[in-house]
Amino acid sequence: MVSIIVLAAGQSKRMNSKLSKVLHPIGGLPIIRHVLKAILGVQPRQIIIVTSKALAPEFKDHNVIIQDDPKGTGHAVQVALEALDEKTQDVLIVCGDTPLIQSQTLKTLKESQADLCVATMRVQNKDHAYGLVIQDDQGNPQKIVEFKDANPDQRQIPLCNAGVYKIKASVLRELLPLLETKNEAKEYYLTDLVEFAHQRSYKTAVVIGDEEEFHGINTRLDLARAEAIFQNRWRLQKMQEGVTLVQPETIFLSHDTKIGVDSRVGPFVTFGEGVCLKDNVTILPFCHLEHTVVEDGGTVGPFAHLRGNTVLHQGASIGNFVEVKGSKIGKGSKAKHLSYIGDTDVGEKVNIGAGAITCNYDGFKKYKTVIEDGVMVGVNASLVAPLTIGQGSIVAAGSTITESVQIDALAIARTPQTQKPGWAKKFRDKQ
Ligand code: UD1
Ligand code: CA
Repeated sequence: MVSIIVLAAGQSKRMNSKLSKVLHPIGGLPIIRHVLKAILGVQPRQIIIVTSKALAPEFKDHNVIIQDDPKGTGHAVQVALEALDEKTQDVLIVCGDTPLIQSQTLKTLKESQADLCVATMRVQNKDHAYGLVIQDDQGNPQKIVEFKDANPDQRQIPLCNAGVYKIKASVLRELLPLLETKNEAKEYYLTDLVEFAHQRSYKTAVVIGDEEEFHGINTRLDLARAEAIFQNRWRLQKMQEGVTLVQPETIFLSHDTKIGVDSRVGPFVTFGEGVCLKDNVTILPFCHLEHTVVEDGGTVGPFAHLRGNTVLHQGASIGNFVEVKGSKIGKGSKAKHLSYIGDTDVGEKVNIGAGAITCNYDGFKKYKTVIEDGVMVGVNASLVAPLTIGQGSIVAAGSTITESVQIDALAIARTPQTQKPGWAKKFRDKQ
């Protein structure tokens, strides 16, 4: 069985961030969580995360080793060694800053028979910061030279180190103490193990993968590119699963977005975490959804904002400039224009008129509104919670409702209109 060491203790200098780079999100999920997700697919006997003291609380459920004074990737693995299970035969070493890595690739690496197998990629762009893989006559890796240590000829080598390795535990234990810091960065380079292994006639090998999959995050630019790759992958998967994405490049998904078949998402829609669209749902352009479920046949937008554990039941419809927070909208109910519905249970076949607002907050606490089946809320009504608007009742337009409304009643709460005949004309004439 294989054990995995994840390196996540670096200083993230190139990110220029107070937050460790491995906690920056891709598709809303921290980089390191993407890596851990991919790792679980390999079913390792043990996962050791090398990290800093500050980051350790992020990994409460894991076997964490603190590397307080990071002196390079080789040093990180030296520190991890003390936690490595005695019975481990093979070790996978994975950098915590490569969020696009796939389980399948880790499985391929795991199956390698070599003593040391390096995941590699061909990189055409010479403006990169990867290690360059020098191969022997048989094509086996002989040495890895970091880009910053490489001479101009070596910099032309297209094969780059992806930062993911499989190594026999015994070989790892033997070679790790040999590392030195004679390089540009004055660090213990894990990559030097390749040269040591090759010199000692251990079998070295490469697996070649896709550059996008091994894209490592060192800078904000790398982060933006990883987000783009992640989004493209996820959009493609959604379309393959039977979802229509109109102008997919303008739609931003979260790592956990679920969308059912024949649903259609218009341009410029963004998904935060926790969204589930069932089948035949329509999201019109320019909406933002998070923590929301839209059941079959629901329609949303354009320009709507749904959040905070909202559920739209079958065929419910939310229109333009409507915000719904923490509310349930019953079957076939509608709020089509300019509303705020917060902390509200809306029954079935309710119509909420344009500009109607639930007043759910008094500056200290939030209060609940219940709008029962078949209610008609007139335009611009303010419903001051807590309130129940009884089944089948009508709230007159422009009312400020502060008391519950009885079943089938009409509630009007507005100043009666007065009319002064001819007043306007007289006023005009005077001007
Ligand atoms: C490393 C490789 C490079 C490879 C690239 C792939 C080395 C010397 N170089 O370079 O050949 O092409 O990854 O992405 O290994 N870390 C620690 N402790 C440390 C230093 C780093 O835990 O003391 C962690 C970092 O948090 C990061 C990972 O190790 O997740 C890689 O470190 P990083 O500094 O990003 O290495 P690269 O320069 O990208
Ligand atoms: Ca890196």
